[in-house]
Amino acid sequence: MNHLKLVDRRDETDRIRILQFTASSGDALPAYTAGTHLDFELDGIGNRSYSLIDWPQHSDQNPPGSEKIQSYTIAVQREDDGDGGSKMMHQLQIGQSINASDPVNDFELIDSVAPVLLLAGGIGITPLISMATSLASQKHPFSLHYAARSLSVMGFHSTLSEHFADHVQFYFDDTRPLDLAALFSEQGESTELYICGPKGMIEAARKAATTAGFADNNIHVELFSSPDTESGDSAFEVEINDSGEVFEIPVGQSIIDVLEAAGKDLMFDCQRGDCGICQTDVISGIPDHRDVVLSEADRASGKVMQICVSRAKSPRLVLDL
Ligand code: FES
Repeated sequence: MNHLKLVDRRDETDRIRILQFTASSGDALPAYTAGTHLDFELDGIGNRSYSLIDWPQHSDQNPPGSEKIQSYTIAVQREDDGDGGSKMMHQLQIGQSINASDPVNDFELIDSVAPVLLLAGGIGITPLISMATSLASQKHPFSLHYAARSLSVMGFHSTLSEHFADHVQFYFDDTRPLDLAALFSEQGESTELYICGPKGMIEAARKAATTAGFADNNIHVELFSSPDTESGDSAFEVEINDSGEVFEIPVGQSIIDVLEAAGKDLMFDCQRGDCGICQTDVISGIPDHRDVVLSEADRASGKVMQICVSRAKSPRLVLDL
């Protein structure tokens, strides 16, 4: 746990605010690798995850390879229809303190000589900025493809153009839409693909990448939104195979929510369906997959599920817990 103090804030767009923190104590902070996030503790709301952003020009403050660094920078997009977490982050004042986890990386660049394709949708650009910085510093071949609704709502357009001019391509829904099939058809078969954005974009990109011949283990994803209740959701039961205990999972609560409240010790992290840590074997019943981490083959098998977001199409699931 880190006790952080806000030392700088500035607006990147109407809705995206950049926040910079140091340790409240003035001590150095644990270093991190590209793709890392912090979980911020928000009073009355819970934890919210934000990716750490590292630009090439920050290396004087946070030298590459150092074990301790001076500051953490994140970007928060205000969601006016959200649960208030992003608004609370926007309201933080300079000098105000907040608790955050140690750095956690569920979206790490894998160690490979293969070219890298970074694909971002909207505010999902943030972890990919750090990846671009890391890859550029290693002179590793990569390209960064970044889509947003329009130029006016796109964060970091000019900074990305400045630092990664030879690598970055921008796409806008209104003037230059992203053609995923065309993009993926131009890539070599060993290319490692990293995708971060909203769920619909990740699902479309994963499907297009699979169709273009990308292997499942060359596709890495991180979701940049919290799971929503979907219309038509209904309650279902979960039976724990070992003990035979049965729990009802109501609408608006996840399997993890219910089992944790019952005192079960579970492994999980993101609670958005993208890190894979809560993956659980399904003994019987039909899962309703809501994650973005399982491959099409794993989904179709119905034998595993992410219990942080996925629900059931059958009245009961029996899980290997
Ligand atoms: S906790 Fe990350 S996929 Fe479930």
